[in-house]
Amino acid sequence: ISLGVNIDHVATLRQARGGIEPDIIEAALLCERAGCDGITVHLREDRRHINEKDLRQLRKTIKTRLNLEMAVCDEIVEIACQVKPDQITLVPEKRQELTTEGGLDIISNEKKIKKVVERFSKYGIISIFVDPDSKQVEAASKTGAEFIELHTGSYANALTQQEKQERLKELRQAGALAMDLGLRLNAGHGLNYQNVVPIIQIPKIEELNIGHSIISRAVMVGLEAAVREMIELIKT
Ligand code: PXP
Repeated sequence: ISLGVNIDHVATLRQARGGIEPDIIEAALLCERAGCDGITVHLREDRRHINEKDLRQLRKTIKTRLNLEMAVCDEIVEIACQVKPDQITLVPEKRQELTTEGGLDIISNEKKIKKVVERFSKYGIISIFVDPDSKQVEAASKTGAEFIELHTGSYANALTQQEKQERLKELRQAGALAMDLGLRLNAGHGLNYQNVVPIIQIPKIEELNIGHSIISRAVMVGLEAAVREMIELIKT
């Protein structure tokens, strides 16, 4: 299983003072030194953390995969086609949300998504962030995207063991359906050192994208150590 480290919150900290620290490139290189397989960033329309310059510098600097999370919006699609990250992950985006709140509603956005897939597929891989919902997974399989990223947020937020098991079952079922439909599988959101292990046991998961828990842990032990600790959990 590959680990993509989402470093948005390194930029969130930088934006708290509007300066240049902490440096996003240094952070990406430390994650790579610790052995991650990719760097993930979300270029939001409101540019609350990562900005275009960060994205372009990351493209030039990092050696592992660059995964750009982005809304289905013309301005960002244009940037993606110029910068050419190795992968884009289409996500829903609302201005008021603290973080991505759910999977993309593929059924309602089918035409727009197909257009993005058509446009970006000559540059890189396309993944779509989806809830573990059979109708959305089926819709994803008709867009031409190669991957889906299963949204693990409801599992991560489950309050009881029973609820957690139910959410896990939904993720497994959605994963199995995705496989049957010929989609490849990633997962992410809300994953941490305590809840990640059952997710790696879902068959055929290829990559996890993890941000908040790793950056939070990094405050305590340093970024390299935080990434290594996560790699140990998901790769052993
Ligand atoms: N995957 C997607 C599609 C996301 O939007 C995010 C948050 O930006 C993540 C993974 C990482 O989530 P977290 O920060 O909760 O680990």
